[in-house]
Amino acid sequence: MTKRKILVTSALPYANGSIHLGHMVEHIQTDVWVRFQKLRGHECHYCCADDTHGTPVMLAAQKQGLAPEDMIARVREEHLADFTGFHIGYSNYYSTHSPENKAFSEKIYCALKANGKIESRVIEQLFDPEKEMFLPDRFVKGECPKCHAPDQYGDNCEVCGTTYAPTELIKPYSAVSGATPVLRESEHFFFKLGECADFLKAWTGGESKLSDGRIQPHLQPEALNKMKEWLGEGENALSDWDISRDAPYFGFEIPDAPGKYFYVWLDAPVGYMASFQNLCDRIGVDFNEFFQAGSETEMYHFIGKDILYFHALFWPAMLHFSGHRTPTGVFAHGFLTVDGQKMSKSRGTFITAKSYLEQKLNPEWMRYYIAAKLNSKVEDIDLNLNDFIARVNSDLVGKYVNIAARAAGFIAKRFEGRLKDVDNSALLAKLAAESERIAESYETREYARALRDIMALSDAVNEYVDANKPWELAKQEGQEARLHEVCSELINAFSMLTACLAPVLPQTAANAAQFLNIPAITWEHTRTTLGEHAINKYEHLMQRVEQKQVDDLIEANKQSIQTAAETAPAEEGKYAPVAEQASFDAFMKIDMRVAKVLNCEAVEGSTKLLKFDLDFGFEKRVIFSGIAASYPNPAELNGRMVIAVANFAPRKMAKFGVSEGMILSAATADGKLRLLDVHEGAQPGDKVG
Ligand code: 2FM
Ligand code: ZN
Repeated sequence: MTKRKILVTSALPYANGSIHLGHMVEHIQTDVWVRFQKLRGHECHYCCADDTHGTPVMLAAQKQGLAPEDMIARVREEHLADFTGFHIGYSNYYSTHSPENKAFSEKIYCALKANGKIESRVIEQLFDPEKEMFLPDRFVKGECPKCHAPDQYGDNCEVCGTTYAPTELIKPYSAVSGATPVLRESEHFFFKLGECADFLKAWTGGESKLSDGRIQPHLQPEALNKMKEWLGEGENALSDWDISRDAPYFGFEIPDAPGKYFYVWLDAPVGYMASFQNLCDRIGVDFNEFFQAGSETEMYHFIGKDILYFHALFWPAMLHFSGHRTPTGVFAHGFLTVDGQKMSKSRGTFITAKSYLEQKLNPEWMRYYIAAKLNSKVEDIDLNLNDFIARVNSDLVGKYVNIAARAAGFIAKRFEGRLKDVDNSALLAKLAAESERIAESYETREYARALRDIMALSDAVNEYVDANKPWELAKQEGQEARLHEVCSELINAFSMLTACLAPVLPQTAANAAQFLNIPAITWEHTRTTLGEHAINKYEHLMQRVEQKQVDDLIEANKQSIQTAAETAPAEEGKYAPVAEQASFDAFMKIDMRVAKVLNCEAVEGSTKLLKFDLDFGFEKRVIFSGIAASYPNPAELNGRMVIAVANFAPRKMAKFGVSEGMILSAATADGKLRLLDVHEGAQPGDKVG
């Protein structure tokens, strides 16, 4: 067998959101493939990282009052803990905010520039005059120019589906500050992708010959069809790609261009290289052998279908025109739905990896269920929660684990824990004969087929148990040898099935190796018997999933708060909690009162604060409130009633003075703050609640 040298990646998760089951689909798909390659004895490196740059990360850090470096370090720990909890076995989980990534991004950019592939152009972009920053399309909102739906994003309307430029929005506003954006000119750098069209047409339709002689198409057929749309002529021709962003931006500054940064999508895939380089430095692998042009090693990217454009066009072009190898294959998967619908926070089906682990569900249940749904196509897959329970219980507990449970006791009690040599067993020969077909399924990412075949073999083994009834043999005189033979066959069958399932169930495989008294499971165990061999005591290998555990998981996700780091918009018309569930008692601790504004004025030296002199009836107090941007004319508030919290400890407001409470206001969707009104008749000092 030729030992293949393989580098595999999963898409890099953004550093401003939690890991959820959607991510898990991809990382499980990748991990199963990597584990399979390693079981087969190949050299396979699995690299990933957090995708740390860009405006959303920068703003999320600001919102949390953290330096972006601190936020991304914390998030990376959380992400890695989530993935590790699901047994995702990266060779390296790194960060795009790393010295290696900076060096590679610069190197690739400079090589592209030297190759005449970078051009500078002045463009007009919407600018937030209050925040003093250019606004990415998703941070401009306004009325759809076509259907007039309010509050639509700057790139497309979620109501009528039209795509447009942010400048076409009616009454646009900045989603960051609420200010009206203005058009401003700025110099940007473009990667001349249009000039790469011939290369990309050839590459996307091309294939690689592997060291074992097999042919690997670069893209799946569905992906290739998409490429044909994107690589069209005339109007559909590839446009050049804007790879720079202006300060303020969290990212890498572009060489010789102060104040200009690499767009996050430029340095994100370079993060694959950086993570691998960092690994190579630690374990002594030759990085260049993998990344040099014409490399004979293999490189695969597992991704979601939404980021094909970046991986099948931008990335191969970046690599090729900077003098590097291109990917051997880009493997796209579809989206995950739960019970047939888009994952939803309000329905509790936006299931985070953390909640799954905290609720103590076995990660291998989910690995198995997801793998049982996956194939090599770019198809969406559905997590049906009832089916999840039924399938895991029936397949893993009822069929697979049960085989060991049914035979282990007899081997321990009647045969001193020793297996008989059963190399001539017809049952085991049947299992061994399927090994290559199952391997082929894993190799081609047809996991659903692999697991169907493995379960069919488990059925055959269970039928063998029912036909031979070891519990009856145990009672019959003179059947000792037959009992030993049948039970030894069953333990060997269990060993073979364990090896077949090992890419999907690594923890169970490790526990089973301990029971089988072998150092580790390898692919060889799918087709070889253990011979005369002593095994260890059987400990139950897997529990059943209970309905209540799944119900509790959904409930926990309904209650989970949307963390400040998350920028995903709430679903239209659905309640999305912005705070944890609170008790009535907690609410009653807040002493809210009506107060009259005696005087309201701007605060010198602050663009945010207004100073309120308030009459609470029982006393007069001063409160500073951060609503200046929403009330440019503070004096107009004089004489009105407001609602304020009266029992907060006094708080020092930098150099401005002490604030003796908090005035309540509503935050509108466009980022403005509006004071609450009090109906006539209420007096200063009246209790609110
Ligand atoms: O879509 C995403 O979640 C991106 N963070 C994926 C980046 S993959 C790679 F190119 F880095
Ligand atoms: Zn519209």
